[in-house]
Amino acid sequence: MKKLFLLTTAALMIAVSAFGQAQTIKLPAPDKTGGMPLMQAMNERHSSREFSQKELSKQQLSNLCWAAWGFNRSDAKKRTAPSSMNKQEMELYVVLKDGAYRYNAEAHKLELIKEGDLRSYCGKQDFVATAPVNFIYVANMKKAGVEKPEDITPTHIATSHANTGFIAQNTYLACASEGLECVVRAWIDKEALENAMGLSPFHKVILGHTIGYGE
Ligand SMILES: Cc1cc2nc3c(=O)[nH]c(=O)nc-3n(C[C@H](O)[C@H](O)[C@H](O)COP(=O)(O)O)c2cc1C
Repeated sequence: MKKLFLLTTAALMIAVSAFGQAQTIKLPAPDKTGGMPLMQAMNERHSSREFSQKELSKQQLSNLCWAAWGFNRSDAKKRTAPSSMNKQEMELYVVLKDGAYRYNAEAHKLELIKEGDLRSYCGKQDFVATAPVNFIYVANMKKAGVEKPEDITPTHIATSHANTGFIAQNTYLACASEGLECVVRAWIDKEALENAMGLSPFHKVILGHTIGYGE
């Protein structure tokens, strides 16, 4: 009994930091059969730059993360978006009011990487700092086969931009399906954001994507 208590306490300590910050956000299973018909979602896809501060539900976050860059063929470790030579170097970060999280597609959960509100680093436009969610598409060049950060070439970056395009379009269509507003963005101080998120020199911010309800 005492052992069980200690184990439970340890698990709680791992799950919650000293500030009460959740270390992981467990996402409900994505709804893979629901949503809007594809052609209707394409018809409704658009960019918007006006967001209310209303939070998304966990189910919406789950659906969006999975649609963007989840595994749709788990056995083969393949995803909802293609990637050049199946390197899968892209990582999806989710910046919320309380912290920045990495999407762990295998476990379908969000893992805290940095506490605090980093939304103002996510882009140079005002709405970015107040919208509830920013997806940040980051290339982990180690996964692209790069051995030293100084070996990252413009071709690596260009390839990751192409890979990100597919992911971002998935996000656009999922937002249309969920009745959410969004805009993909390149206008970011990428170095400042990489530093604020505490990313390694192998990690390169490619694009951001602001998501929320309309005003
Ligand atoms: C690679 C890329 C970068 C973009 N960067 C920004 C940006 O930094 N800020 C912004 O407000 N919109 C940005 N956009 C959104 C475009 O402005 C938008 O897609 C375009 O005006 C067409 O509108 P639509 O998406 O509603 O069709 C970007 C789009 C793409 C594809």
